[in-house]
Amino acid sequence: MNHPFAAPFLLHGGDYNPEQWLDAPEILEKDLEYFEKTGINTVTLGIFSWAALEPEEGCFQMQWLEDVIRRVWDRGIHVILATPSGARPKWLADRYPEVLRTDASRRRALFGGRHNHCYTSPIYREKVRRIDQELARRFGSHPAVLLWHVSNEYGGECHCPLCQERFRGWLKERYGTIERLNHQWNTAFWSHTYQDFSQVESPSPLGEHALHGLNLDWKRFVTHCTADFLDWEVKALRESGSRLPVTANFMYDYTGLNYGKFRSSLDVVSWDNYPTWHKGPEADTAADCGFQHDRMRSLLGRPFLLMESSPSSTNWQPVSKLRKPGILELASLQAVAHGSDSVLYFQLRQSRGASEKFHGAVIDHYGGPDTRILKETAQVGQALSRLREVAGSSVPKQTAILWDMESRWAMEDAQGPRNQGLPHKETAMGMYRALRSLGLSVDILDMEDSLEGYRLIAAPMQYLFREGIQQKLEAFVREGGILVMTFWSGVVDENDLCFLGPTPGGLTDVLGLRFCEIDGLYDWESNRMVPVSPAGEEPGGVSFARSYRCSQLCERILPSSARTVMTYGEDFYAGEPVLTCNAWGKGQAWYLAAAAEPDFYRDFFTQLAAPLFPERPVSDLPEGVEACLRENDAYQYLFLQNFRREPAAVSLSRAGSDPETEWTCVFGSFHGVLDGWSTAVLRRKRRPS
Ligand code: GLA
Ligand code: ZN
Repeated sequence: MNHPFAAPFLLHGGDYNPEQWLDAPEILEKDLEYFEKTGINTVTLGIFSWAALEPEEGCFQMQWLEDVIRRVWDRGIHVILATPSGARPKWLADRYPEVLRTDASRRRALFGGRHNHCYTSPIYREKVRRIDQELARRFGSHPAVLLWHVSNEYGGECHCPLCQERFRGWLKERYGTIERLNHQWNTAFWSHTYQDFSQVESPSPLGEHALHGLNLDWKRFVTHCTADFLDWEVKALRESGSRLPVTANFMYDYTGLNYGKFRSSLDVVSWDNYPTWHKGPEADTAADCGFQHDRMRSLLGRPFLLMESSPSSTNWQPVSKLRKPGILELASLQAVAHGSDSVLYFQLRQSRGASEKFHGAVIDHYGGPDTRILKETAQVGQALSRLREVAGSSVPKQTAILWDMESRWAMEDAQGPRNQGLPHKETAMGMYRALRSLGLSVDILDMEDSLEGYRLIAAPMQYLFREGIQQKLEAFVREGGILVMTFWSGVVDENDLCFLGPTPGGLTDVLGLRFCEIDGLYDWESNRMVPVSPAGEEPGGVSFARSYRCSQLCERILPSSARTVMTYGEDFYAGEPVLTCNAWGKGQAWYLAAAAEPDFYRDFFTQLAAPLFPERPVSDLPEGVEACLRENDAYQYLFLQNFRREPAAVSLSRAGSDPETEWTCVFGSFHGVLDGWSTAVLRRKRRPS
């Protein structure tokens, strides 16, 4: 982070594609009018403009862009400026076929689509560098421009000969000798031993895909290549003298890249959120979005940007459902509540033709001022302007969930105890929702993150232990932290080789147990978790008054020093431990051996986490209500949001209340009750520390 981004206000606006309307100046004029009406203060330009900016090789035409920037800036509207590398012009693909991507079956693509170029191709790199430099020279210190939006939703992979060569070089650097690679990938299996790096090929459905080490390294390599391409673009901008901060927009739960590896290149994280509202209960959708927002914020531990969202529906999901009135504001403010300094849409004006012509937009084909969406976006605009002072405030560190992409890649690739679906997300979400229902903030971390400053860390199904994670977790517990680790953790090492000896590898002392066996359950099967500790002897102060259902995966574990808190109720392992607690240093290490029903997580974390955070302003939220805290030096802001249609009662804790630091409502209305689908923001002065 070299050029930290500090949002001067909460950004409101989004992707704007005037290049599709250059022959219709009256439309562009109308847009400006609507921007003003809806409180749009930021437009993102240039994302897919390459063909308009460089219609022929080396011939740049940037005047139209300059005109648009000037016209929006005349009205005080800021610009996020994109580099156009997300989609290339036809001349580039025709003249230099090497820029076209090759898929895993080794087929080279024809021209078309987007996000489909080879990141290794020296020609692609050079052409991108040229146009990025041109943009940076021309606009890189323009007062309207706030930020670089580098490319668009980096993703995918290329298996062309250039990428194969680069992959081999990367492997050579990683392993040094082919013997070491053979050992780490366990290539003796099925006689897949390599004699030389030159023989290695990327995984393919037509060839090698059984070596998990290869699959994992390929994914790491794809991340490396993509992050390196981002760096290449950033370098081009910097070389041309631009000092503006940089972002790249990420996608929802995207598993093609390890976003954690991009953070050193970014000044601010941004992402695109397209939830399927009304497909299920809104509270579920909200929890899912909340988790993603928290992951994005945690990447840099600073405010992030909501770069794209739809003001109404999308047109690429199986069903394009409209957001019912009120959801736009609720969903938009949810992003802000979780740490976003923006609400940006895709897109401001709906395309007239091609594949996104029916995607929701602020201004639609009808083009008049009397539309529901214009009215609702204007409302969001007003809300953001009232909440302006929240920009830049941070979210306090309280609890964290480990959610590591490399571990997930390896776990999902492994053929193991349940190939018809692993309860990874359910387990993480069970824990997440439990912690959130207690009014706690949750950071979503990976194994590279520092664990300092947290009081409770949950580690659901951390199958692969990356180098050094055991030491970090051990120190965390020793210093007084509470760790909750689950089944199917610490099974393999950094290279996807199974740990030999007792597991979870390297943590058996801290957890006070070892893994014995794991039972995969059919969908129709379940077991029970039965409380066992006699009253007055509850390890960690935790006790349960009832049994809970568990399913999908049940591990048999053997405690050494850990104390058993619950046991299995059924099957041949009935009576064996399913929940244990081990005292370690000043802290506790818990182990949950099976995938539990959601109520369990709520009852468990209520007992575990509640005493750790007596100072939190709300402590027990009804289902579907979220509370989020943001703070700056002067104030704390409490966002209360009700994702249910019915009103909900919320009580604020009175702990340490004094008139100097009373909550006052600065947005929406709140008198102990929140209306259905509504947001209230309360503010209080911070106590001098
Ligand atoms: C993505 C892209 C946008 C647009 C939207 C549509 O997020 O970045 O260009 O295609 O999807 O929802
Ligand atoms: Zn390639």
